[in-house]
Amino acid sequence: MSDSLFRFHDLFAQLGLPNTPEAIASFLEQHRPLPNDVLLADAPFWSESQAEFIREKRLQDSPEWIQIIDQLSEALRQTSGVVNLSTPCRVLALSGSLRHTSYNTALAQAAQTLAPQGMAIEVATLHGIPLYDGDLESKEGIPAAVLALKEKILNADALLLVTPEYNNGVPGVFKNSIDWLSRTDSKAIFSGRITGLIGASMGGFGTVSSQAAWLPILKMLGVSLYSGGSLLVSRAQNSFDEQGKLQDENIQKMLTTYLQGFQTFVHASHMVRTQEKSN
Ligand SMILES: Cc1cc2nc3c(=O)[nH]c(=O)nc-3n(C[C@H](O)[C@H](O)[C@H](O)COP(=O)(O)O)c2cc1C
Repeated sequence: MSDSLFRFHDLFAQLGLPNTPEAIASFLEQHRPLPNDVLLADAPFWSESQAEFIREKRLQDSPEWIQIIDQLSEALRQTSGVVNLSTPCRVLALSGSLRHTSYNTALAQAAQTLAPQGMAIEVATLHGIPLYDGDLESKEGIPAAVLALKEKILNADALLLVTPEYNNGVPGVFKNSIDWLSRTDSKAIFSGRITGLIGASMGGFGTVSSQAAWLPILKMLGVSLYSGGSLLVSRAQNSFDEQGKLQDENIQKMLTTYLQGFQTFVHASHMVRTQEKSN
């Protein structure tokens, strides 16, 4: 199932409703349980135009919207508990640069500061991870720094990759670490792992090429990628001050919006998984 289908965030925006995670949670709390014999579009709490929007999307046979609408319908029929968008979610933001004054590490730190209520972000870097070497692996096993990073990822609800761009592609140092991780227990670390991707570069296109280059890798690893928003910080040297603080207000807003959407995605994904388990 495509991950872009989990965007309650977008559906609520289309319906003209507040779409922060808290607002979505409160809407669900207020309006459920919706009786099973009432179609979602016929629910008494919609305005005429909202009901019309839901009916139209169904008639247009638009698979993306139908999936989201069905998820909302399902969530509204639960009596309690399944959806709790205010449950704290832990995110590991992994910077793909080793530089002491890295803009990407600074972006991860800005995300930590701007995280919405209910989201706690830990920043991690790739320091200490050696170059992948099959002989080293055979002789000494998986390096301690890789195992430590693995634990951090497993302990988080979601992973946020913060990528630089080198020669229009993925930096080798970042890919190297992911390759090491894939040698430990790739399935547990990556399969279905809720993952976001953002990045900062000094060029004019803000990691658009490296983010695109990550896609086949992330697909191979089987992560569940958030695609409901994106964040590309171009000309990073103009956006951060000398202490590495994000000073560009527009980027602050875009990062905040990204994180809100990501948070909704994390909760929606958990909700779907909880429902799948209970079926
Ligand atoms: C080997 C190398 C290749 C680079 N290639 C690109 C590029 O293709 N596009 C771009 O916007 N910036 C490129 N840059 C500049 C980076 O955006 C800049 O060094 C940035 O600061 C790296 O991220 P960091 O600050 O997190 O280390 C390159 C830098 C290096 C070292």
